[in-house]
Amino acid sequence: MARLPAARRFIRRFVAGERTEDALRVIAGLNAQGLVCAVTYLGENVTTPADAARAAGAYVDLLGEIERRRLAAVPSLKLTHLGLDLGEAVCRANLETVLARGRASSSLVWIDMESTAYTDRTLDLYARTRPSFANAACVVQAYLRRTQTDVERLIELGATVRLCKGAYREPRELAFPDKGQVDANYARLLDRFFADDAQARSVYVGVATHDERLIARARDGARARGIARERFEIQMLYGIRSDLHRRLAADGLRLRVLVPYGEDWYGYFMRRLAERPANLVFFLRHLFRR
Ligand code: FDA
Repeated sequence: MARLPAARRFIRRFVAGERTEDALRVIAGLNAQGLVCAVTYLGENVTTPADAARAAGAYVDLLGEIERRRLAAVPSLKLTHLGLDLGEAVCRANLETVLARGRASSSLVWIDMESTAYTDRTLDLYARTRPSFANAACVVQAYLRRTQTDVERLIELGATVRLCKGAYREPRELAFPDKGQVDANYARLLDRFFADDAQARSVYVGVATHDERLIARARDGARARGIARERFEIQMLYGIRSDLHRRLAADGLRLRVLVPYGEDWYGYFMRRLAERPANLVFFLRHLFRR
């Protein structure tokens, strides 16, 4: 796919490029517009300890470059990229290496949430590392029926949490099948993070969505409760609804754009195609034109 110029252009809409330098250049551009970033070195489900260690090493180097260039960006990584399929010990050692490097430059490290095969292991590892690493941040998915319970546990921990809708194909016993239900659950969970007891525990929420109604709900909910703009942020993916950036900044909201890069872009790119059929149609039309 990437060899066809038309396909490459379309992939580049969502993925900064294959090299670290591509991501750093995109981040510098977004920072210049007043936006802060998260950055993902793409990769998942590695099958050898050496690959897992290489991924951790890439994040350590990335943190060094971010610091050296004084960029406003923090890593957002997947535990299966750090070896979760190879056992918790391998993954935890790699995660702690990245967390320690992050802590040295006062950087948060977001731990993405993957499919339900990993939900328990991811949240357990987060809960175990968080006491030693206050810079660890995690993710919950509003499409999962279990998330309401997980959120209570995270509030207890005073966690830094990203709330997203969820991007994996899951069975209806585990995930709400209907978009309306997912959106309603997202709104409920957002309100829960903004509740007085959660805020008293210093819970910080990353409102990760491009859904204008939910972003407005976060903005209005925070205002109504007197929650300062430093106490939460809106998060969006690179290449999606960038037309909203200026308006959100004008509303006084802190906005973080997640910039993905790397050679292993296929899984990420396919999730972006799958969540919006119009993307697939556009992509195929582009591909077969000429
Ligand atoms: P929704 O799908 O309702 O879209 C709202 C609007 O956004 C659409 O009408 C459209 O305009 C635009 N839009 C959304 N997706 C688009 C696309 N692919 N192409 C073009 N336009 C699009 N998921 C997960 O399971 N684990 C994780 O760790 C993360 N991490 C994460 C970080 C950040 C910063 C974001 C923003 C999202 C994630 N996600 C994620 C992905 C998330 O679960 C979800 O799949 C996408 O954000 C799309 O859902 P929306 O909330 O945007 O709503």
